Amino acid sequence: MDQAEKLRQISQNLEFCPQPRVIAVTSGKGGVGKTNLVANLGICLAEGGYRVLLLDADLGTANLDVLLGMFTEYSLYEVIRGYRSLDEVIVTGPGGIKLIPGAAGFREMSYLDGIRKEQLEKRLGEYTQKCDFLLIDTGAGISKNVLSFISIASEVIVVVTPEPTSLADAYCLIKVICRFNLSRKIHIVVNMASSIFEANQTAEKITHVCNHFLLKNIDTLGYVLDNNCVGQAVREQVPFVQRYPKSGAALQVRAVARALETGSVSNEPFREGFVSKLMRIFG
Ligand SMILES: Nc1ncnc2c1ncn2[C@@H]1O[C@H](COP(=O)(O)OP(=O)(O)OP(=O)(O)O)[C@@H](O)[C@H]1O
Ligand SMILES: [Mg+2]
Repeated sequence: MDQAEKLRQISQNLEFCPQPRVIAVTSGKGGVGKTNLVANLGICLAEGGYRVLLLDADLGTANLDVLLGMFTEYSLYEVIRGYRSLDEVIVTGPGGIKLIPGAAGFREMSYLDGIRKEQLEKRLGEYTQKCDFLLIDTGAGISKNVLSFISIASEVIVVVTPEPTSLADAYCLIKVICRFNLSRKIHIVVNMASSIFEANQTAEKITHVCNHFLLKNIDTLGYVLDNNCVGQAVREQVPFVQRYPKSGAALQVRAVARALETGSVSNEPFREGFVSKLMRIFG
């Protein structure tokens, strides 16, 4: 029996129903590696025995399914319009992860009638209760959509690269998250650094400014160095942890998964359930 299964059984015996860890993966600047991290981190967690659900919340350029090499005919959009059920839309991907594919028509949620909204809320609620981790792949930047998805998550992973522009934009995003108290815990993952030294330096820079100017402790989960395997795996549409399992990038993202699963989880229940929050954003 793996560690995740043991924990599930213990919590069931204690009649304690743990909330899934809802984690938004975001960034200030675009193109820093969020979608690659969500896909590969999700698979690593699933390999560890956790039940993982991915939500593609990049309303502009949803592409998590493409990266995972999955053919998805429908998205949450069809559910909202009442054309498909959630069961028809959620697809199972590599390593057994579940995916809710994204779509540009997300804003249609506001046109849901009361009954459909209630049904969708119930179904989404059932799904999220059945998973251990919900990873949300957001768009980049400080838009209303991105902040909305950050606010429904209990934790945020900000992906940052060593480029000064990425660091500056990450700082601005973290400032907004803190200003509006949108997240209880903020983690950092440094991506595309050329060396461990540069990765550590980047993490130190961002944690230092957040600590100094925002009085906020940021937790560094780890790094994924710049690696040709990542681009190659994207072209082959196979997540790099599966296509190149012995590559540095795969080992590094596994270390990030371990840091995430062993990281302290707040026991404080959500002030409001994930589904109700999601509904309020679009409702
Ligand atoms: N560690 C890495 N090493 C080398 N290339 C990488 C690495 N991580 C990501 N990339 C490359 O960076 C590009 C952007 O990655 P990705 O799509 O995951 O970023 P994103 O933050 O989701 O972008 P967007 O903001 O557009 O959603 C891809 O071409 C990918 O191959
Ligand atoms: Mg992306």
